[in-house]
Amino acid sequence: MSELIKNPSTMEKAQNEVRQILGKKSTVEEADLREMNYLKLVIKETLRFHPPAPFLLPRESGVDLRIGGYNIPAKTKVVVNAMAIARDPRYWDEPDRFYPERFLGSTIDIKGSDFEFLAFGSGRRMCPGIPYALPFVEFTLAHLLWQFDWKLPTGMEPKDLDMTEATGLIARRKNDLHLIPVPYRSIDS
Ligand code: HEM
Repeated sequence: MSELIKNPSTMEKAQNEVRQILGKKSTVEEADLREMNYLKLVIKETLRFHPPAPFLLPRESGVDLRIGGYNIPAKTKVVVNAMAIARDPRYWDEPDRFYPERFLGSTIDIKGSDFEFLAFGSGRRMCPGIPYALPFVEFTLAHLLWQFDWKLPTGMEPKDLDMTEATGLIARRKNDLHLIPVPYRSIDS
């Protein structure tokens, strides 16, 4: 929601798609989500730019290793900085820009085999929750964008939005996001 407020044209595009697909329906169904291609790009870009688990889960090397010029003795705890990788200009054009369209026609996915994009990790310990997490996020975001327009408190501009993130095992906003929901249509209309 923070990135959508900061990027009004992306918000408009996502809302138009959701509202066009849902029309006057009363709820979001699985078949509707399958059609929401732009919404999926928005979620993918959010997972790239703000991976919820930026350092994945720690690993321990089983044997002595040499990777990328570093000696890693057996039993070393290794932390992968997936967030830094997802913002590395060697792998991403304009990495600091929230730009869902970057994934249009791209084969890069979050299934753990594209190492520049590790929002759900990779390998034997990668997140088993993808089939639960993604539909839940799509469903929730579709509802929020469908039923409401979102405004910043009076006097605030998108550029004023504080995007500071709290560091830790799980990434989140440092300060709460305050938005005003404006009903777009009543459920029974
Ligand atoms: C957007 C939502 C989610 C994100 C971004 C996410 C991300 C991650 C990441 C990065 C890891 C570590 C993977 C690694 O180190 O390679 C992980 C592990 C895990 N996740 Fe998720 N996760 C999400 C939702 C869920 C959900 C909904 C479930 C359960 C239904 C779940 C269950 C787990 C479990 C059990 C592990 C540990 C796997 C292991 O150690 O073998 N996650 N997740």
